[in-house]
Formats: sequence, structure tokens, C-alpha cells
Amino acid sequence: MTHYLADVADAWQESWDRQQEAFLPDREHRIAAMLDAVAAVAPEGRPALLDLAGGTGTIALRALDRFPHARVTVVDQDPVLLTLAEAALGDRARIVAADLSRPSWTDALPHRDYDAVLTATALHWLTPDRLAVLYGELHGVLRAGGLFANADHMPDEGLPGLTKRLLEAADARREARYATGAALSWRDWWARVAADPRLAALYAERSKIYPTAHGSAEWTPPAGWHLAALRTAGFTETGLLWRGAADATVAAVA
Ligand SMILES: C[S@@+](CC[C@H](N)C(=O)[O-])C[C@H]1O[C@@H](n2cnc3c(N)ncnc32)[C@H](O)[C@@H]1O
Repeated sequence: MTHYLADVADAWQESWDRQQEAFLPDREHRIAAMLDAVAAVAPEGRPALLDLAGGTGTIALRALDRFPHARVTVVDQDPVLLTLAEAALGDRARIVAADLSRPSWTDALPHRDYDAVLTATALHWLTPDRLAVLYGELHGVLRAGGLFANADHMPDEGLPGLTKRLLEAADARREARYATGAALSWRDWWARVAADPRLAALYAERSKIYPTAHGSAEWTPPAGWHLAALRTAGFTETGLLWRGAADATVAAVA
């Protein structure tokens, strides 16, 4: 069945990606690094993948480009982003609506033997206590030897002054892009969603879930916190897969 957003799905997907890349210019590099790690744990090229807090499903789409026979699940709770994910992915992925702040979210998964759980720019929306528990739940949905990778804001505590200057420079570049119209800000992107008659009702639903702009704890500990929490959660190998300015990707093997 053709999705009711089929004619605009690619355009919304592209505009989401441009908006996210304004925050994270190296976003594609971090996704590619994650997919290299997936290839290492699932060399037969048919991984079962969970795109956690996947939004519009960018990671799922990149994964399917690289592994066309992957079994993919996208989990999120945003009705707008999940609808865009569904429109872009069609029957190539299972789309699951669930709230990661509740332990019951795993009940909604189609299976619990994932080769990899990948997530980006999302888990800083959870509180520290909840994230530590979630890491244990993720260990429980991965097969032995499966991969977890989380790309997020994880400043290096050894470089506070340099990180501050790097972030100031990045802010200035981003503001210039917004000012010239080279990219949409988060706020402006959501204003366009609200103004689209086909998305307005979903946007109203979303506003109940996220009454503030991000609806988030915005808690961004250094990578070391994540690595310690992942070890406590039972992962056998933990380490850094990628690092850039104040962001990093931590990886862990179940
Ligand atoms: C900045 S977006 C990133 C989306 C996607 N990972 C990407 O890189 O394009 C953060 C995502 O986390 C999701 N998220 C935040 N808290 C969540 C929760 N408690 N349950 C499910 N999803 C959540 C949001 O709905 C949003 O889609």
C-alpha cells in the first residue's frame, strides 16, 4: 500500500538530515563508523538491527543501503518522526512506537536477538538513572557478541577549555548557516512540520509527548561515564569507536 506521504517522504527525510547535519557536520562519518562495526560482528551481511530512538530512520536507511538483507527495527516515540520513517522505509523495516523511559518498551520489539543496536543524538534526552538501566535492557535484547553503539554529545573531560572553544566556533558556523538559509534550525524545521496540513495532527500529538522544545534532560556526561555504565550493564568489551570535538561514539560488545 502506498503511504499517504509517499510523494514527499524523500524531501522530508532530506530536510531532516540537513537540519541534523547543521548540528553534526560529521553525522554521516559517525553512522559509517557504526556500520563498519556492524559488518565486523555480522560478517554474513544480514544483521538484525535496532535503530534506537531512530527518529525518521536515517540510521536504518543507511544500514539498508549497506546491508540490503538486514532485518531492521526502528523504535521511537515521536509520532511525526515515526510516520516519516514509515513513509521512507515502507516494508523494509518494522516501525515501533515505544517510550524508552519505561522498562516495558522492550515488550514492543518483534524479537530479542539483535546483532546490533545503534543510536545517535538521542540518549541525552534520558535521565542518568534511566540511561544506566536502559543499558542493561539493551544488553538483554542483543545476542551474545552483538554490538551496541551510541553516538552522542560526550565532551572530553581532559579538554574543557579546548572543547569550549571548539563548540563556540561550531555555534558561530551554525548560526551563519541559519542566518543565510543554508540550513533550517530545529525550531524552524518543526514550524514547517506544524504548517504542513498532512502532519499538523501528528504534530499536535507530538506536542503532548514533548511539551518543551526537546522534552529532554540534556544530560551529556563524558564517554567514560557511558563506558563504565555499559560495563556495569554486563557488556564484555567497551570503548570509543569515533571521536570529534565534543561528540563521541561509544561501542560495547554483549
Ligand atoms: C535528535 S533526534 C535523533 C533521531 C535519530 N537518531 C537521528 O539521528 O536522526 C532524538 C530522538 O530521540 C527520540 N527520543 C527521545 N526520548 C525518547 C524516549 N523516551 N522514547 C523514545 N524515543 C525518544 C526522539 O523522539 C527523537 O526522535
